[in-house]
Amino acid sequence: MPNLAQIAIAARAHAHAPYSNFRVGAALETSTGEIYTGCNVENSTYGLTICAERVAVVKAISEGARPGSFVRIAIAADTPTLTPPCGACRQILAEFAPGAVITLVNLAGLSKSYTIADLLPESFNDSFLR
Ligand code: THU
Repeated sequence: MPNLAQIAIAARAHAHAPYSNFRVGAALETSTGEIYTGCNVENSTYGLTICAERVAVVKAISEGARPGSFVRIAIAADTPTLTPPCGACRQILAEFAPGAVITLVNLAGLSKSYTIADLLPESFNDSFLR
């Protein structure tokens, strides 16, 4: 069975990236072992582009996965160094996958893992809304 990094790499194949030609894949795993994949989906207006990580989160939630149930996410891109998630994706991961280990991988087998606190310290969250 492929590991989460391999699943994220495979998800790149579906990327719709005609503008940047930069293909990203993500694989998100829940505490009960379900895996949801995502790829970046670009748009000719550029600003409506959706990153691979957010596609995976939105797919998972829309299929019934519970916010907070995610334990791991792998994010794959073809760069010599690892590709970090953008600020918007960090905010989404902080809200939906606060406990997940976030592993960045490339095609050469390089990987590095982070917590969301590493990537987005002092983040805004719903506690400020109360
Ligand atoms: N992208 C992602 O999908 N995830 C990241 O972590 C970084 C950037 C996408 C957005 C866009 O389609 C392309 O990569 C170039 O920015």
